[in-house]
Amino acid sequence: MQNQINPSQIMQIGMGFWASKTLLSAVKLGLFTHLNGSPLSAQELGDRMELHQRGRVDFFDTLVSLGLLEREGNGENARYTNTPQTALFLDKEKPQYIGGILEMANDRLYPFWGDLEEGLKTGQPQNEIKQSGESFFEALYADPDRLRQFIGAMSGVQMGNFIALAEQFDFSQYHTLCDVGGASGLLAIQAAKRHPHLRCISFDLPPVEPIARETIGKFGVSDRVSAVSGDFFVDKLPKADVITMGNILHDWNLENKKLLIKKAYDALPGGGALIVIENIIDDERRENTFGLLMSLNMLIELGDGFDYTGADFDRWAKEAVFRETSVMPLTGPASAAIAIK
Ligand SMILES: C[S@@+](CC[C@H](N)C(=O)[O-])C[C@H]1O[C@@H](n2cnc3c(N)ncnc32)[C@H](O)[C@@H]1O
Repeated sequence: MQNQINPSQIMQIGMGFWASKTLLSAVKLGLFTHLNGSPLSAQELGDRMELHQRGRVDFFDTLVSLGLLEREGNGENARYTNTPQTALFLDKEKPQYIGGILEMANDRLYPFWGDLEEGLKTGQPQNEIKQSGESFFEALYADPDRLRQFIGAMSGVQMGNFIALAEQFDFSQYHTLCDVGGASGLLAIQAAKRHPHLRCISFDLPPVEPIARETIGKFGVSDRVSAVSGDFFVDKLPKADVITMGNILHDWNLENKKLLIKKAYDALPGGGALIVIENIIDDERRENTFGLLMSLNMLIELGDGFDYTGADFDRWAKEAVFRETSVMPLTGPASAAIAIK
């Protein structure tokens, strides 16, 4: 019995940041984009990436051992290529690129998570607003590059979920959709592309509107998807048959979560649906590790924002007198929690 207990899980998790930072650095340095042509030797790849001799082969071979690169041959004759996954999802030239979230993780979350203990002791955010006391979005959006990086990161995380929602949810009885806090407009775009009868709005703060317009134009759906600016704490939400909120409620404390759910209720007709797309935690809070870690990430980013279970959502929605709720699994750890008025 004693022999079956070993420390490998502890060590794997404890030193997990080594592997994580290796991948984040590879994305940040554009390694997978450099490999989008023919296979390259360590020398060729290292030169293109302007890496010092000391670390380059260790770096590439670590990625091979992690299953994030492929290598033909050994030693000096070895040639590196992307794996099918890194070729599709981590090459910046591909529309399926999801590296935005990893770039943001490298630049922002990795250093901020270094102060997790302080966050746990104080309950205070540990990011850009730690010293300034500004509001999170105000601080984030004051720098245009950071704004673009954040919006790009959001798109990477949620793309698969928005496509899954557009496929799985029955939109046939609904004609209008408003995505509240819609960022680049991707949810509205995916819903409109999949359901030609839908007219959609992506609603967000004014600095985000030009990015949403650009994205809507790129997808060729400007005739049915519009970007509308507003502040969801100040303005009424645009009326629509379906109100969606992707990773919005987890940003806020309980009082503001309930306020946003109530505002959605007021903007919906009878039979209308509020759909929130988040990493909904399992009701017993044992299984959805990513959802639980996301909630700690909300501590780092916003202090009192937190993720929640389907049972929590049901309670808050019923308080706002929604009729019924359900949870629809989307991709990986994410689900749609749905409330019908
Ligand atoms: C975590 S992001 C989620 C973006 C997107 N819905 C998704 O699922 O990827 C939160 C979004 O809420 C928007 N937001 C924050 N405060 C807002 C406010 N007061 N009014 C309108 N939008 C707001 C932000 O600009 C940002 O796009």
